[in-house]
Amino acid sequence: MLIDTIWDIYQEEYVEKLDKEVGLKNIDMIVVQHMEPDHGGGLGYLMSKLPENTPIYCTKNGADTIRKHFNNKNWNFQIVKTGDTVKTGKYELVFVEMTMLHWPDSLLTYVKGANVIFSNDAFGQHYSGAGFFNDEVDSCELYQEAMKYYANILLPYSPLVKRKIEEIKSMNLQIDIIAPAHGVIWRENPMQIIEKYYEWSQNYKEDFVSIVYDTMYDSTRKMAEAIAEGFIESGVKVKLFNASITDRSDLITDLFKSKGIIIGSCTVNNTVMRPIISLLEEIKALRFKDKLAAGFGSYGWSGEAPNIISKRLQEAGLKVPLQPIKVKYRPTEQELLECKEYGKTLAKLL
Ligand code: FEO
Repeated sequence: MLIDTIWDIYQEEYVEKLDKEVGLKNIDMIVVQHMEPDHGGGLGYLMSKLPENTPIYCTKNGADTIRKHFNNKNWNFQIVKTGDTVKTGKYELVFVEMTMLHWPDSLLTYVKGANVIFSNDAFGQHYSGAGFFNDEVDSCELYQEAMKYYANILLPYSPLVKRKIEEIKSMNLQIDIIAPAHGVIWRENPMQIIEKYYEWSQNYKEDFVSIVYDTMYDSTRKMAEAIAEGFIESGVKVKLFNASITDRSDLITDLFKSKGIIIGSCTVNNTVMRPIISLLEEIKALRFKDKLAAGFGSYGWSGEAPNIISKRLQEAGLKVPLQPIKVKYRPTEQELLECKEYGKTLAKLL
């Protein structure tokens, strides 16, 4: 029995190793938990080396997706739903549909008897640590990567994550190992990552605000720093980011943790600078919830950017209680004091 395959660019190497370590003749069934090419891309090549009637266990959506990826191959699909089981000799597989976590086809497999969960994307990380297991790697590094994965991939589906975790908990499974398809395997207290997902799925916030800006001649940067001073003098911790030089996935992770998101850009050609406009699109797509937000920025003549930012933040469902603050050309000492006051007012609204 084989659970999932590999990205097709590695398929030859994968099948060669599989044959050496396991023996292809010993693969009598395949479980395809998710057909995104990083897990399922190598299925076609593998199937070309196995009997064509090898059973493929997957969800109904999984079979549709596999057919579309592999030219409507009429393989031996065995469609499973939540609660369905299949015996593999010593063990029994119990399937749990993970619809939209994060594709329509996603599936989780519990191996009864071994007490192992194969969770596919859930509980994973884009991370290659110093070891294969969570007790062999730096836990701060691991949690940073696990949270980055959640914030950038699973966040829009948080209500589904919450319900699915409640469903899995209600099944009272004995879980000794959680083996995601990305990153390290959770074997030391594996329930810790389930508990973390439950926490992250419910409007998670840490005790700081993020101020993100892009700037052309430093006027918007000076405004960002003055607003930050206002927060700090009010006792609120702040992280400051230049959007044009910050890794986007890391930035999204910090915004996920923030209780406030303050965004600034100068106005260029009547609009917002490129890193900020794309960030605003992502904030909307990721469905951040229950966070204070505001816009700011400098301008030369027309000054549209702060209003565009403010409108986009509202459209994304964030709380935007104040009009954006703008400064023409370079901020004066008085205008920087006004920015600081703006930060203080926002701090009171947190
Ligand atoms: Fe949804 Fe790891 O692919």
